[in-house]
Amino acid sequence: MTLPPTVETFGPEHADVYETMYRARGKSWEAEAADVVRRIRELSPGASSLLDVGCGTGAHLAVFAEDVERAEGLEFSAAMRERARRRLPSVPVHDGDMRGFRLGRAFDAVTCLFTAVNYVDGVAGLDAAVRSMADHLEPGGVLVLEPWWFPERFIDGHVGGDVVTEGGLTIARVSHSTLAGRATRLEAHWVVADASGIRRFTEVEFLMLFDEAEYRAAFDAAGCDVEYHPGWLTGRGLFVGVRR
Ligand SMILES: C[S@@+](CC[C@H](N)C(=O)[O-])C[C@H]1O[C@@H](n2cnc3c(N)ncnc32)[C@H](O)[C@@H]1O
Repeated sequence: MTLPPTVETFGPEHADVYETMYRARGKSWEAEAADVVRRIRELSPGASSLLDVGCGTGAHLAVFAEDVERAEGLEFSAAMRERARRRLPSVPVHDGDMRGFRLGRAFDAVTCLFTAVNYVDGVAGLDAAVRSMADHLEPGGVLVLEPWWFPERFIDGHVGGDVVTEGGLTIARVSHSTLAGRATRLEAHWVVADASGIRRFTEVEFLMLFDEAEYRAAFDAAGCDVEYHPGWLTGRGLFVGVRR
């Protein structure tokens, strides 16, 4: 499948408007991170270190860094990583691919939120990513993963549209999602206007549609017991695993 001539996914134009758009749509990274910390502490009351994988602009990481002694991030996109580093200058944000990274130290908790794990290429990619994350957990450590929709919940042909005006900036996003094999093909057209003029860009993202059994198998193969909590704050549920 060929991609139209777009800027790279999670490139600088997207990174600049990403949080403003999703906050306007009701996303609260702060509420989500607080809930994740609560769930981690239920299973590991003394947890004092956390790695956020696919940390994006560091919005969850900012909360984690206040709650644990040692918080770190890992992010593939240079534009997203740079924004996380700018936001959190004292927090290490590593350049890496979740499917095979090696930081040389373990954490009490690893998180991978807002469907970051679904940008992998197939079940082998999911297995490799969950394995890499679990390999960075202490025994008894907690792995929290927010999945994309299960296949039966995905709406083929779904159209979304939002406009937000904030701080001298107006941002419009129109999206169209279709089924592409075992993935969602999400095409989003963005138009951004401020005093300097109007810019537009398009992004095409492919998000794998794994089923519950595939996530469970990935956790099990990586040496973790896992529970799935349907719903959660985003509606997509949450997998919470503990390393055996
Ligand atoms: C939807 S964003 C979520 C970012 C962040 N977790 C949040 O809640 O805002 C998905 C992120 O996963 C990152 N990502 C995708 N594939 C990755 C990979 N293989 N390794 C590391 N990061 C990846 C993307 O660059 C992007 O920043």
